[in-house]
Amino acid sequence: MEAGGSRVSGVPAVVTESTFSQSYREYLENEGILDVRYRAQKLDDGMVALPVLDEKFNLSVEEKLLEMIAPGSSCSRTLISNPVLSKRGSIQSPAKKLRMDLCKLLGNAGVIWTRDLERDLPHSWQQHGDLIVLQEGCFCNSVWKQLGDELWTSVACSLGVKRLAKQGPVLNDGVRSPNTTLLLGDNSWVEHVDNGIRYTFDLTKCMFSAGNIIEKQRVASLRCSEEIVVDLYAGIGYFTLPYLVHAGAAFVHACEWNPHAVIALRRNLELNKVSHKCQIHEGDNRQLLLHDLADRVNLGLIPTSEAAYHVACRVLKKNTGGILHIHHNVDSFLRKHKDGNENLAPQDPGSSRKVFWRKWAESAEMKIRSFLQEMHNIPWQTSIMRIERIKSYAPHVDHVVLDLDCRPLT
Ligand SMILES: C[S@@+](CC[C@H](N)C(=O)[O-])C[C@H]1O[C@@H](n2cnc3c(N)ncnc32)[C@H](O)[C@@H]1O
Repeated sequence: MEAGGSRVSGVPAVVTESTFSQSYREYLENEGILDVRYRAQKLDDGMVALPVLDEKFNLSVEEKLLEMIAPGSSCSRTLISNPVLSKRGSIQSPAKKLRMDLCKLLGNAGVIWTRDLERDLPHSWQQHGDLIVLQEGCFCNSVWKQLGDELWTSVACSLGVKRLAKQGPVLNDGVRSPNTTLLLGDNSWVEHVDNGIRYTFDLTKCMFSAGNIIEKQRVASLRCSEEIVVDLYAGIGYFTLPYLVHAGAAFVHACEWNPHAVIALRRNLELNKVSHKCQIHEGDNRQLLLHDLADRVNLGLIPTSEAAYHVACRVLKKNTGGILHIHHNVDSFLRKHKDGNENLAPQDPGSSRKVFWRKWAESAEMKIRSFLQEMHNIPWQTSIMRIERIKSYAPHVDHVVLDLDCRPLT
């Protein structure tokens, strides 16, 4: 089988007499033509074969070697059939090792390595113990299918794990389904240790956002002793657990409607020995019956948690108020309004984004304040404590979190 071109059956090399091999090596290395991943080889007839990068070795290089670098030498091409890794070549990044192993696997199957295949390799992945989740958009070329399961066994072996999965785009289906499929292995539960907290979950059923790590660390550094926290979008406990384990919250009410995430959340509370300080409210948080008990409410849903603003207001302590942590995706794209005016912002892109974040934060603040005032029939004071960017979600779109202090004016 072929993906176009000729068979790969060894490492391309240039052959010359041993007396000239040092001059050849120096020149080829300086020009970036020597393939430093492999050792030079002494051939039976006393000649030396120097591995080279095929795409860089051309006729003009050959002429230069023969006429200027080592006049009197002979220069021919060969393929080293049993290449030996050089010291440099054996200290490889996992990505390099993966590339080399796949190159070999395809070579054995008679497939030539092409740039398209190179581009189709994964460039990043997430590791959870012995399982690696490959990014979406890799291994799409039809040639991989021909290798069957051997492909995934080889990829897992190159990356030093036992199980493999591949990520699809997170689905906007209300439970943020991860759309991740298991490629190798028969069990998709993983364990992840983060800031001393153990999280276990089925990665084909629950999403895990490594990008929220800074916010998780910030939550862990809060001082919440004696506080009651309501986590309206608890998932597997990404924020619930740091509140309990590190921030010292007295109690957390964790709301979650994805039954798979609820199973994981329950396990995680047990694993971290904090089950006695948490009540899980399984179901739609808009139906939550709690009120007037929270010092702090976490609204960790993107693109927006607006659907639960009124719930957050209802659960806040009505006599003392508290703090809301509101997540949102803010789009900072400069758009023309229907009236022809632009959403104008300063020239500096960094500060212009902050203008958009502020605009969103002020509109969220107004909504929350009017909910609180209507609900309790007294004036409330709200203030924006902090607007923090968690991660870039898409071009022009930032995932931000607003800390909003809300107090009744009595
Ligand atoms: C983005 S995940 C949560 C993750 C966590 N807060 C984080 O940022 O890593 C959002 C979670 O909210 C849950 N969810 C969404 N809408 C909900 C609702 N109306 N009631 C309860 N849970 C909901 C989803 O099932 C999902 O597990």
